Amino acid sequence: MKIFIDSADLDEIQQGYGWGVVDGVTTNPSLLKKAVEKRVGTGERVDLKEYISRILEVADGTPVSLEVTEVTGEKMIEQGKRLHELFNPIAGNVYIKIPVNPAFKEIDATHFDGIRAIRELTASGIPVNCTLIFTPEQAFLAAKAGAKFVSPFAGRIDDDLRKSAGLQFGKEDYYPAEGMEMDARLLEDNGIVSGIELVEQCVKIIEHYGFATEVLAASLRNPRQVRESALVGAHIATLPFGVIKDMLKHHKTYEGMELFTADIVPEYANLK
Ligand code: E4P
Repeated sequence: MKIFIDSADLDEIQQGYGWGVVDGVTTNPSLLKKAVEKRVGTGERVDLKEYISRILEVADGTPVSLEVTEVTGEKMIEQGKRLHELFNPIAGNVYIKIPVNPAFKEIDATHFDGIRAIRELTASGIPVNCTLIFTPEQAFLAAKAGAKFVSPFAGRIDDDLRKSAGLQFGKEDYYPAEGMEMDARLLEDNGIVSGIELVEQCVKIIEHYGFATEVLAASLRNPRQVRESALVGAHIATLPFGVIKDMLKHHKTYEGMELFTADIVPEYANLK
């Protein structure tokens, strides 16, 4: 499974690539806002075009997803092409992120605009990461339209299940892959019992039909979800910087380090 960093923070991206375990970057408007505000907060003047170019250079040779902000088919296609034209020459690694459905509510008439944009950008040779996927059938349509990546949002499904049951939870709290029972009823959203099950079903459908699409498990909030994404065969997991770091932590590893360090025979350490 490839690991992408889910961040627009250049310092985090540089550090992640420096560790040699990062295979790509995903950004979204909220992540970009957070990263820019952090820099502006320290008195820096941020030139967004230059800032994004630096991210692309750090990630040279690996995909970087840049999300459109428009919400209709024509405008998303136009913006997607513009972003690709503007930034892809830097390192040839720009993927355009398109929402599977840009409608804000049921009555909007734009439900298929995302699919149309994916198809058109793909036909122009622009790779697409289809975002905001909450059902396997959305992933299926996005793959049919030619998306290179489909991004099921595991954590946000888990949030929604917990919220619907009135449970209190923190953003990073683990939600069981097999789901949770509440009043002798398994919590579910349209038959999906957890974010990891959503990822799993997307993988099954994509692989069953041999689509040239990779499932990018997104909105992961803790290392256990990363493990479970790998176990259900996600091709990629995009992770906040903190989760990448947390993957290495265990109290027995710390304790083992202390014990081994206390036992070092000086002669051994000084062997030349
Ligand atoms: C990735 O492409 C998504 O933008 C991201 O994983 C969303 O994560 P969140 O639900 O923690 O905001």
